[in-house]
Amino acid sequence: MSVVSGQIADYLGRASMIRRMFDAGIELKKIHGADKVCDFSLGNPDLPAPTAVQTRLYELAGQALEPNQFGYMPNAGFPWLREQLAEFLSDEQQIPLGAQNVIVTVGAAGGINVLLRAIMEPGDELLAFSPYFVEYGFYAENSGGRFRTIPAAPGFSPDIAGLEQAITPSVRALIINSPNNPTGVIYSHEELEGIAALLSRKSREYGRPIFLISDEPYRYLTYDGAQVPPVLPLYEYAVVVGSFSKTLGLAGERVGYLAFAPQMPDSDTLLNACILTNRILGFVNPPVIGQHLVSAALGSQVDVSVYAARRKAMAEVLDNAGIKYQMPKGAFYFFPEVPAGAGGDDKAFAQKLVEELVLVVPGSGFGCPGHFRMTFCMDETVIRRSADGFVRAVEAFR
Ligand SMILES: Cc1ncc(COP(=O)(O)O)c(C=O)c1O
Repeated sequence: MSVVSGQIADYLGRASMIRRMFDAGIELKKIHGADKVCDFSLGNPDLPAPTAVQTRLYELAGQALEPNQFGYMPNAGFPWLREQLAEFLSDEQQIPLGAQNVIVTVGAAGGINVLLRAIMEPGDELLAFSPYFVEYGFYAENSGGRFRTIPAAPGFSPDIAGLEQAITPSVRALIINSPNNPTGVIYSHEELEGIAALLSRKSREYGRPIFLISDEPYRYLTYDGAQVPPVLPLYEYAVVVGSFSKTLGLAGERVGYLAFAPQMPDSDTLLNACILTNRILGFVNPPVIGQHLVSAALGSQVDVSVYAARRKAMAEVLDNAGIKYQMPKGAFYFFPEVPAGAGGDDKAFAQKLVEELVLVVPGSGFGCPGHFRMTFCMDETVIRRSADGFVRAVEAFR
C-alpha cells in the first residue's frame, strides 16, 4: 500500500545527483569536520544582498502596521512593482513593455511552472538543449507534459539543426537558459535569431505557437564585460523568466517574474491565464516583503567581482590538475571534462573526488556524461584548498 503516487515514488527512487552529493557532504562533514570538506555541489548564492535591501528592511520595520498589510495580495504582483519592472525591462530587452506584459512570480521556478501550466496540453513536449537545469523535466511533467532534450553543439552552443530535427507537432515550447547552468555559456544574438526564425517557421507550419522560454536568472552575473542579448524583440512568442535569487542574493525571498513579448498575438489571454495558474497552483501571490525589497534594489546587484575572483581561483585549480574546461562567461558554475584517464566515467571521477573530500556533481545528472559540475558559491579559500585533492584524483586515473 503506497502512500505516494507512482510518479512521485519513481522520482524519489531517482534522487538527483545533486541531492546525493548534498547528502554525502553532510556525512563527510560529520566525520571529518566542515572545514575539511570542499563542497562544490550546490548552487546556493552566498553573497550578501546589496545595501539597498537592508535599508528598505529597516524602513519597513519602522513603519506602523496597517490592516491587510500582510493580507492576500494581487496574484500578479503589486501593480506598482509591475510598472517598475516593465520600465526596467523595456531598457534591458530593448522593446517597450507595460505592466500588462509583466507578472511577478514566486521565483523563476514558480514562473516556469505557472507558464507551463497555462500553455501545455496533456502530452505536449517541452524541449531543452542538454546539459540542462534538472528541474525542467519535473516542471514539464507537473503540467502533464513531457520533457525531451537535444544535445548542445560543440562549445555547448545551441544546435539549431538538431532542434529542427527534434521539433514535431507535439512540441509546445523550447526552454533555453543563458547564462547557462551548468556550462556558463551565453548565447549570442545570432544564435537567438536562428532559434527564433526556426520556431517562427515551425509555428506557422503546424498552426500553433511554439513558445521560446528564456530562463535568465543569471543575466547579471557575467564576466569580462560579457552581455546577454535580449530575446523579446526577436520572437512574438518569446517569454523571459527572470529572478532576483542570484542578482540580488535573495533566493529565499522567492521573487521572480514573467515578461511576455509585447508583440505576442492575444498576449492578454496568456497573461490572464498565468495570473490564474499562479493562483490555482497554490503560489497565490509573490511574498510581500520580497516585492518591497526587489523594488528598492532593482538595478543594483551583489558584488560580482567576488564571483569573478573565485572563478579565476577555480580555473587555476583545474589548470594545476590538468583538467580541461571551457571558461564560463556567466553564472557561477564550471562544467569541466572528466580527465582522459577516467575514460569519460563522470560518476567514478566524482566518487574519487569524494575520497579527497571534494564534492562535485557528475554531468550525467544534467544529461551530459563525461563532465562534472562545480559551483563557486563558496569562499575562495575553499576553492584553493581543493587543489591537492584534484591533483591526486587525476593521478589516480593515470
Ligand atoms: C537555470 C535555473 N533556472 C531557474 C532556477 C530557479 O531560480 P529561482 O530561485 O528564481 O526560482 C535556477 C536556480 O538555481 C536555475 O539555475
